[in-house]
Amino acid sequence: MFERGASRREFMKAAVAVGGATALAACTSRAEEPIPTGTDHPSSLPTRQHAWNDLLPEDDAGNTVLPRHQLLLYLTLDGRPNAGDRETVEAALSTLDRAYERSNEGLVHSIGYSPRYFSRYDAPLPERVDLPEPRALSSFETPEFDRQDALLHLASDRPDALLGAEEALKGETETVNGEEVAAALTDAFTVADRRTGFVGEGMPAERQGDLKGIPDSGPVPEASPLFMGFKAGFAGNQATEEYVTISEGPFAGATTKTVANIRQRLDDWYDEQDFEERVMEMFSPEHAEQNLVEGVGENLGDDSGIEAMLDSIRDDAREFGRVGHAQKAARANRDEGGNVRLLRRHFESTDQGEANLHFPSLQRGITAFEEVREAMNGADLTDVPTVRQRVNNGILEYIFVQRRGNFLVPPRDLRTLPTPTGETPGLD
Ligand code: HEM
Repeated sequence: MFERGASRREFMKAAVAVGGATALAACTSRAEEPIPTGTDHPSSLPTRQHAWNDLLPEDDAGNTVLPRHQLLLYLTLDGRPNAGDRETVEAALSTLDRAYERSNEGLVHSIGYSPRYFSRYDAPLPERVDLPEPRALSSFETPEFDRQDALLHLASDRPDALLGAEEALKGETETVNGEEVAAALTDAFTVADRRTGFVGEGMPAERQGDLKGIPDSGPVPEASPLFMGFKAGFAGNQATEEYVTISEGPFAGATTKTVANIRQRLDDWYDEQDFEERVMEMFSPEHAEQNLVEGVGENLGDDSGIEAMLDSIRDDAREFGRVGHAQKAARANRDEGGNVRLLRRHFESTDQGEANLHFPSLQRGITAFEEVREAMNGADLTDVPTVRQRVNNGILEYIFVQRRGNFLVPPRDLRTLPTPTGETPGLD
């Protein structure tokens, strides 16, 4: 049915979004290269689950290139987990470690746990673990909160690796990439929500037709990794994995992860604004005036150069009538020593037929994210007459937070249903 022509191509494009055995079969039959297998020696894997950068490729400028296909499985479980649940979950995750090389060509993954998960125990999390319940972070958003117990994030350049891993986790196959499936994750957890996405050159342009939130003219450039037409995640504007790691206490080696889902309505972004105006609102007015951004911003190298545009933000607002998204956010995104605080790993989605973005951000504590988000709100700049809460105020006119959840991503040796005191009773 999907063997020939346009309908097959269309189907392949949506394979991860659709999911299931047919999608996997379609990808597998098309695969030219085998997927590299994993390891029987967990000690060869990074101790931090969030340490992905060394496993992923870099572009010419040294920026990490995120895997092109992504899957978020939101998981729930009943009651307090027992030793049997832990054995099941550990066996399911170890199956993935054995089946797939930990890389963009195989599979990278991490599991995090929500405040609600930890609240089933009597003991609280250690004080230095900064993991509040999710909340609204601006006066103009009313997100739904993701309070499922856990979030398993999987990513790969290979759609067949993602779909194969998912099939194994759900116990729908006995072997995965040549390895025996030791247990199904779904014997302990229920998959409460499945969300998908993609990021990388060509993918947003390829998917923009008939998508709610994108004008019919198809304005998303082929070279853009994101729907808004620019590249993000320059190395110089990202926290290091080391920096976002909790360094002390029972969860040393962990990080916190907040994930927002953001709907995009880009008609006016593309139809009412020219390229220069988009550069002003995404980066800063001076980026536009000085012609610093060409195309999707590849020419910026490994740093957006935004640090030079922070002190002038109020002057920019007065002179150009608007301020930039990166310019606003960066004001709170450096610590006293000048280190970047957040590690953003966002990717696009066509779930529900609309352009939306999954926005995972890693930081030592959730408060750091909340502070940067407040700076991005730019409420402090609305006394300049042309800048309104959502107009001429970065990209706020075009993005709408629909959901938000907070999670603790423990180090690998505590990845399996940890207690708030950092133990996994029942596992060796
Ligand atoms: C559709 C949604 C979004 C898009 C397309 C987007 C895109 C971008 C782009 C292109 C940049 C400049 C390049 C870079 O440094 O990566 C940037 C910077 C940044 N964005 Fe966003 N962004 C979005 C939402 C958000 C949200 C919700 C936050 C939450 C706080 C955020 C925080 C930041 C930060 C902290 C920076 C870096 C500023 C610095 O240099 O310190 N962005 N974003």
